[in-house]
Amino acid sequence: MSQTVCITGAARGLGLGYTEHYLEAGWQVLAVARKAKEKDSLKKLAQKYGSRLELFDADLTNHETLLPLKKCWESQPLDLLINNAGILLDGHAEFEKLRLDTLRESFEVNVIAPVALTQMALPALQKSKKPVVAMMSTLMASIADNASGGYYAYRSSKTALNMVTRSLANDCPWLIAIALHPGWVQTDMGGAQAPTSVTESIQGLTRVIAGLKADDSGQFRNFKGQTLPW
Ligand SMILES: NC(=O)c1ccc[n+]([C@@H]2O[C@H](COP(=O)([O-])OP(=O)(O)OC[C@H]3O[C@@H](n4cnc5c(N)ncnc54)[C@H](OP(=O)(O)O)[C@@H]3O)[C@@H](O)[C@H]2O)c1
Repeated sequence: MSQTVCITGAARGLGLGYTEHYLEAGWQVLAVARKAKEKDSLKKLAQKYGSRLELFDADLTNHETLLPLKKCWESQPLDLLINNAGILLDGHAEFEKLRLDTLRESFEVNVIAPVALTQMALPALQKSKKPVVAMMSTLMASIADNASGGYYAYRSSKTALNMVTRSLANDCPWLIAIALHPGWVQTDMGGAQAPTSVTESIQGLTRVIAGLKADDSGQFRNFKGQTLPW
């Protein structure tokens, strides 16, 4: 029987890369995106892969829009949840100029949404033989690596996501929870000057995910499989 993955932010960037990879590999893919059914990228994949791609329209900050997914998970197993959607709203701005709304919005999308979705997915993950929850983090979340400051909202929200990952790994030893850094990647977020292509990053990330063992739960890895400092 084919395996099932749920990917958030599936219509572009790394989320689209994950979606294409797992469809090509024969998985059942639950793709979550705002206005999913109107996105050309997902419409093309739906034409090619038919019923193996299921589209879910959801804004991750509006938890009611996630109810169709919740319903689906009451009866079906889920093998892999990739909490990929994320926002980077601030740059290297001075601390005095940090807008508190930016901080709030970043935590809403980068921390609260993955927590809410993972809570919702637990019954379906419990039905899998090897359940994995992958949180899309970033090296910018690393406290040890932060020698340049700035990016308060992005960094601190992703650091919180890392802590969620670690606690989840401790509290739910029946699943594998992993925080992943994709590299600096050519997406809308990463920009055209980024050194890593989506294809290269996704090849690495999916290799890391496929090789995960129970002992790896609670780790922070990059797309090359290297362990990163917290
Ligand atoms: N690119 C990099 O260099 C890099 C480096 C480190 C970590 N990351 C992490 O990797 C992940 C993917 O990044 P990316 O580069 O692919 O980013 P991206 O190109 O900016 O795409 C972000 C995705 O998140 C979705 N999203 C944002 N807010 C949402 C919401 N409220 N509800 C539903 N979806 C929402 C977007 O959906 P819409 O299409 O609807 O806007 C989009 O699909 C992020 O978590 C990011 O922090 C990226």
